[in-house]
Amino acid sequence: MNEHLKKLLLESLKDQKEIFGDLLFDKLEVETVPVKPQKISLNEKEPAKPKLEIIEQKNDIVIPPEFSSCSTLEELNSKICNCVKCELGKTRNKFVFGAGNPNSEVMLIGEAPGADEDKQGIPFVGKAGQLLTDILKAINFERDDLYIANILKCRPPNNRTPVPAEMDICIPYLWKQIELINPKVILCLGLTAATGLLKLKLSLTKMRGNIYELNGIKTMVTYHPAALLRNPNWKRGCWEDVQQFRKLYDELTEKN
Ligand code: URA
Repeated sequence: MNEHLKKLLLESLKDQKEIFGDLLFDKLEVETVPVKPQKISLNEKEPAKPKLEIIEQKNDIVIPPEFSSCSTLEELNSKICNCVKCELGKTRNKFVFGAGNPNSEVMLIGEAPGADEDKQGIPFVGKAGQLLTDILKAINFERDDLYIANILKCRPPNNRTPVPAEMDICIPYLWKQIELINPKVILCLGLTAATGLLKLKLSLTKMRGNIYELNGIKTMVTYHPAALLRNPNWKRGCWEDVQQFRKLYDELTEKN
């Protein structure tokens, strides 16, 4: 296969993975087992949702007791920043704890640090981060007003998708961060962030346009900015999501 074709194929597969994650394989498996004939479209299209639904999401969030002594983000960071509980701790350059306003009412959650973040120790500073900054500006948020963190604190080699074991080890750090920041709203960027935080096995298409209530915190889901760089057609959907997110924030904080 020529290199150009290979690149196109890879990008298209990455796009499908961004929307469907492991469900992509479930769909393919369903297709190979002819139990009940069904039409499966990988370009899943949902009818427009008339109104945002609020879905209470029961997620057993258990914050490890070892963090009970941490009453600030700095204390938490110094407790966990040398973590080597998984292999990523051995290959990382910098531990990417999170950045922004510790008293923010808004948290954004991404997937994991990439090469630039691993160099600088700050989330979303590469190309995807620049796009994220622009998206936030378009809905009148400055990056410094918000708090941004990732599901994983360390970079997976070659930016591969985090594996469940890594997520299970790392997510309690994020839960403690969320508890300390206590935001009013959370926006998950991409499928890994959404499934990791909400513990839902749904496609991104199904999760977008809903409001999940996670331990009382209203949580929404949109595309990951890196996916938008690969597939600009999704920018429109993202624009709709972030406008809804801004509206939700305004309603909750009575800033409309
Ligand atoms: N992608 C992420 O999910 N997080 C970052 O910090 C950077 C890129």
